[in-house]
Amino acid sequence: MDVLVVDHPLAKARLTTMRDARTDNAAFRAALQELTVMLVYEATREAPLKEDRTHTPVARTTGYKLANPPLLVPVLRAGLGMADQAHKLIPDAQMGFVGLARDEETLQPTPYMESLPENLAGRPVFVLDPMLATGGSMEYTIRLLTQRGATDVTAICALAAPEGINHLEDSKLPCRLVTASVDERLNDSGFIVPGLGDAGDRLYGAV
Ligand code: PRP
Repeated sequence: MDVLVVDHPLAKARLTTMRDARTDNAAFRAALQELTVMLVYEATREAPLKEDRTHTPVARTTGYKLANPPLLVPVLRAGLGMADQAHKLIPDAQMGFVGLARDEETLQPTPYMESLPENLAGRPVFVLDPMLATGGSMEYTIRLLTQRGATDVTAICALAAPEGINHLEDSKLPCRLVTASVDERLNDSGFIVPGLGDAGDRLYGAV
């Protein structure tokens, strides 16, 4: 699986804000939004373009737009913290939604919501979730997408654990990962170390 680590200095600075236990919910949301811009920017670096003739105030010229904008799929809850910024960068994108809660004991994802287009053949998909921990949630989501014909899936995560990357590699699902960091490991509770805690709680409060 291709893994792109976006280690730009500005991305590192935003991630540090997110890691800091003293960062409050509002500042955490802002830092994740800013980091999302950088991750989506890098994730679209090789995106095919189509020409789009345009007029400047001075002359006619050739402009460009994305030939095939990706479907954006935030994984609720925490992925919602990335959705608006990704959509601002790719305004033509359609958005689907998957709702998963990870069981705190078994670490298995429990689905509670799914709203996706029926046919994803030929469409790139960006899955948005701040955390790739065991990889169970991402694997579940990518399976939903491939069952609908998707073959070009990019997981966009602020943070990833090596265990989650191995899990996706073992699944043989068609995907690549764009992340700001591959951290050290998972702890016994399934939290990324050093990580940033629980992204959903830090965005929206503990449930
Ligand atoms: C977190 C996170 C991912 C998942 C990662 O969500 O946002 O979706 O866990 O863990 P995994 O790789 O081990 O599956 P959580 O289930 O806590 O739900 P939330 O976003 O509603 O807080």
